[in-house]
Amino acid sequence: MRMTKRFPSLAVWMAATGLATCAWAQLPEGPGRAETQAICSQCHELARSISLRQDKAGWQSTVDKMVTLGAKASDQDLQLVVDYLAKNYPGEEIPRINVNEARAIDLESGLTLLRSQARAIIAYRDKNGPFKSIQDLEKVPGIDVAKIEAKKDRLIF
Ligand code: HEC
Repeated sequence: MRMTKRFPSLAVWMAATGLATCAWAQLPEGPGRAETQAICSQCHELARSISLRQDKAGWQSTVDKMVTLGAKASDQDLQLVVDYLAKNYPGEEIPRINVNEARAIDLESGLTLLRSQARAIIAYRDKNGPFKSIQDLEKVPGIDVAKIEAKKDRLIF
């Protein structure tokens, strides 16, 4: 795996010279295309980068993961990449549930929990402070762990 640090202006230079024309023929036109091409083809094929269909929160987390794996770019360029990917490779928008802000009714319907379980989550949160992870949430007495696990993609902490 190469982790070469590139200049942020690389994408602009490539766009100006037209050098990468054939390599990015597969990417649709639009703002952020040059940055996506430059940043997301450094370690693996560009095709792998665009192999997912997901909503903006999903793309944000993929791009964050690539940064932890060593992708280097300015915050501004990364934002352009996230916006570009979310626009061109969208997924179904799944409703997210903020576990630390949701009301009992939202927890009940969003996670298909019993009313008593939704109330237990709120009571636990009031007593112990915000949940930090799904493991925290699963400590709530009487909670249906299987239902929480099944909807874990929807949870925001
Ligand atoms: C510094 C190297 C590096 C860069 C730059 C990079 N990736 Fe990755 N990418 C990886 C590695 C390593 C994996 C394999 C991770 C694994 O298997 O857990 C990967 C895997 C992926 C996958 C497969 C699914 C997954 O989550 O493992 C996707 C999608 C992806 N990258 C998208 C992108 C996008 C979009 C960009 C541009 C923002 C990008 N990558 C830039 C290193 C990189």
